Amino acid sequence: MSRKIIGLPGDGIGPEVYAQAVRVLAILDDEFQLNIDLQEHLIGGAAIDQQGNPLPQETVDACSDADAILLGAIGGPKWDDLKGADRPEAGLLKIRKTFNLYANLRPVTLQESLSEISPLKKDRLLGVDMLIVRELTGGLYFGKKYREGDSATDTCTYSVPEIERITRLGFSLAKDRSNKVSSVDKANVMETSRLWRETVNRIHTEEFPEVDLEHVLVDACAMHLISKPSAFDVILTENLFGDILSDEASMLSGSLGVLPSASLSTQDPSKGIALYEPIHGSAPDIAGQGVANPAAMLLSVAMMLRHSLQHEESALLLEKAVYASWNAGVFTADLSNNNPVSTTQFTDSVLNFISRTV
Ligand SMILES: NC(=O)c1ccc[n+]([C@@H]2O[C@H](COP(=O)([O-])OP(=O)(O)OC[C@H]3O[C@@H](n4cnc5c(N)ncnc54)[C@H](O)[C@@H]3O)[C@@H](O)[C@H]2O)c1
Repeated sequence: MSRKIIGLPGDGIGPEVYAQAVRVLAILDDEFQLNIDLQEHLIGGAAIDQQGNPLPQETVDACSDADAILLGAIGGPKWDDLKGADRPEAGLLKIRKTFNLYANLRPVTLQESLSEISPLKKDRLLGVDMLIVRELTGGLYFGKKYREGDSATDTCTYSVPEIERITRLGFSLAKDRSNKVSSVDKANVMETSRLWRETVNRIHTEEFPEVDLEHVLVDACAMHLISKPSAFDVILTENLFGDILSDEASMLSGSLGVLPSASLSTQDPSKGIALYEPIHGSAPDIAGQGVANPAAMLLSVAMMLRHSLQHEESALLLEKAVYASWNAGVFTADLSNNNPVSTTQFTDSVLNFISRTV
């Protein structure tokens, strides 16, 4: 039985890093007979240019019976004058909503070979290994937005069921890790955060009393991510806070270009559609130069192999190949000024490691 994967290269560096994922998947498919059926479709600015719609119906139809979706990145200055639902970002928000991709998982670990590159002192980074579990289909990004006269309004809404499902996932994931959840909110000011905290407390007491739970205000969390990052295991939070905190946490590892993510529609990703993408955007400042770091994309492919295709062996091999390249001093320009390699050269190194190992 083939595994249908929909590839959405997108805009800016999206197609550049996506092309590296295709190269790696081809080799792994050959080696492990993964039987991958990879089909490409449009999203974002590229879809606006060709079809006048950031998420064409063809793309939605193709994704609807897929095992997984692999996305590059969307957006860029070319489409900056567009508004609301016409913007490239609307395509991404719509695909999350259409396929109910409510849980965004962003693992942040630190490879020894990147510890000199991080802006933080090496001793602060020891033991950093966290998983940010971000609610992805509610909150400010999906609330009503409007303008009246000279004022603008964004509404933030969360319902109990929306908070319950992400909370259950956060606690379940913590049980397979260090058994600790830091739930992040702004309960001293926001009503949605007070509902969030009440709901998290109830699910904790009723279903997961064995997991350690702490509540952290988002501003304090932003500070602790820098002052004591290794204290975190699972960070459970809502949409906007998770977006900002995960970009901040990415700097612990040295660059936005190294962190992968998975967006799940079910607790068990082998039973529902999931989307995998690097956490970075389309990086218009470096697009077209062939210098983007493909590591976040390749590590997203590894997450896809592990979670959606349930193929641990190929996932581990790919992760090892990325880490081995860094250990051998193979760095793209975001990680080193000293003879940096190009996007394709970094992937060549990953492919060499895979070929030598299998
Ligand atoms: N999921 C997505 O597709 C997504 C996520 C965030 C932003 N965006 C969009 O991307 C566009 C640019 O946004 P931005 O500049 O705020 O964020 P960005 O993540 O695109 O770039 C931020 C900085 O990080 C660098 N960077 C990012 N990825 C890199 C990589 N793989 N290798 C090397 N350097 C990398 C960029 O060069 C830039 O200096 C906007 O249109 C935004 O809406 C898309």
